[in-house]
Amino acid sequence: MVSEQAAQVLVASNRGPVSYTLRDDGELEARRGGGGLVSGLSAIGPDTDAVWVCAALGEGDREAVRRTGGRLDQADTGDQRVRMLGIAPEVYADAYNAVANSTLWFVHHMLYQTPLEPAFGPEFRAQWASYEAYNRAFAEALADEAGDGAAVLVQDYHLALVPGMLRALRPDLRIGHFSHTPWAPVDYFRLLPDDIARQLLRGILGADRAAFLTHRWADAFTACCTELLGDTGKTRIGVHSLGADADFLRERAHRADVDDRIVSLREQIGEADGAPRKAIVRVDRTELSKNIVRGMLAYRQLLTDRPEWRGRVVHVAFAYPSRQDLAVYRSYTAEVQRVAEEINEEFGQEGWLPVVLHVEDDFARSLASYRLADVALVNPIRDGMNLVAKEIPVVSDNGCALVLSREAGAYEELGEDAVVVNPYDISATAAALHTALTMPDDERTQRTKRLAAAATALPPQRWFLDQLEALRALE
Ligand code: G6P
Repeated sequence: MVSEQAAQVLVASNRGPVSYTLRDDGELEARRGGGGLVSGLSAIGPDTDAVWVCAALGEGDREAVRRTGGRLDQADTGDQRVRMLGIAPEVYADAYNAVANSTLWFVHHMLYQTPLEPAFGPEFRAQWASYEAYNRAFAEALADEAGDGAAVLVQDYHLALVPGMLRALRPDLRIGHFSHTPWAPVDYFRLLPDDIARQLLRGILGADRAAFLTHRWADAFTACCTELLGDTGKTRIGVHSLGADADFLRERAHRADVDDRIVSLREQIGEADGAPRKAIVRVDRTELSKNIVRGMLAYRQLLTDRPEWRGRVVHVAFAYPSRQDLAVYRSYTAEVQRVAEEINEEFGQEGWLPVVLHVEDDFARSLASYRLADVALVNPIRDGMNLVAKEIPVVSDNGCALVLSREAGAYEELGEDAVVVNPYDISATAAALHTALTMPDDERTQRTKRLAAAATALPPQRWFLDQLEALRALE
């Protein structure tokens, strides 16, 4: 049954644009999130009838679903119609933690320690059934909300089965799927049980268009389809890179709270010989794929190989909590802290702390670090895009040299003006840090300008509209 207020544009993603916490007094507090999808969707304007379908992530969200029946109060969402799905907590935990984040994320980012993992047995099959149920809940809600011939933009690896399921329920819809992650090379994708690997591919191929952040990930997906299914069927394959939101960033980065954070960061970084010390900045979620530990080991190597940097440089590392329900993320967070302390003990001197590590999320402080960075270290093992690499050159006050992993999606657009590294090569990363620190001012300024131009070529609004137009243009 099609609901009365049938939408013409629908977005589906696990995480929605708003989240709730239940306060002690029993009131719900809504918090709106940011990110590419939120600004992307804003591009269609208030006149288009759009709805965003997402999952309740925690207890506060579930309570909001109970109180509203899932159609959230638009006062909480910035006037966006949002349908939040109250999926049973056990089903949700299996789908999100076990399948999406511990399996699909690991496959696409190639994170397994393969001598022992993955090991797919009956427990995994039960979790997979939950992933199917969770995907089905999305497909049914979308089928219910969508008007005749509406465009539906399904996001990411959480919802890989949705396009196929939705196509079966509503053949009239135009369905797009977008992967925000890398896509695994064929041999690695084949770690998955054969039937599940095929089901995932067929799920995405239920869409009219399957799109990716770079050609590399799109080609990997096509290669998996060719190897496991023979071809990609009628589905068109698209590439839409996502750029930084320059207007938003430049305005936000010059508010008073960011200026305050610059002052306190400058104090922590300190001076040497009357001049501010150089800052090597990184900002990440504490995510296994971000390669924070090897980044620190490379910094230690730099201090070892080039003693002239001791006392003259600080590694400012922000590593914000992520997916803390997963034990492997908790131990990674602990390892990041341990290595930072080890470096500080080995090299620290009176008045010089070699690594300044912060683990509490603070967006204003992140922007402050972007503005003052001399060098940005972005060395992921593998990354769909990496927006930090794109944001830093946009807000940098005096130009910033970018050390960039060739395994980040952003490498396709930024590689030429970055100092490029193999993320596993600690010695080469140490050498790259030295190159970046000693880059002549003029060269750094010119490169930063070109990086900023490349980084902002496709802002989120363009990214979203291009996909919508491509979907509507299909025969
Ligand atoms: C990153 C990835 C996205 C993913 C998101 C999920 O931003 O690039 O592909 O959807 O993480 O993060 P979450 O915190 O919701 O698990």
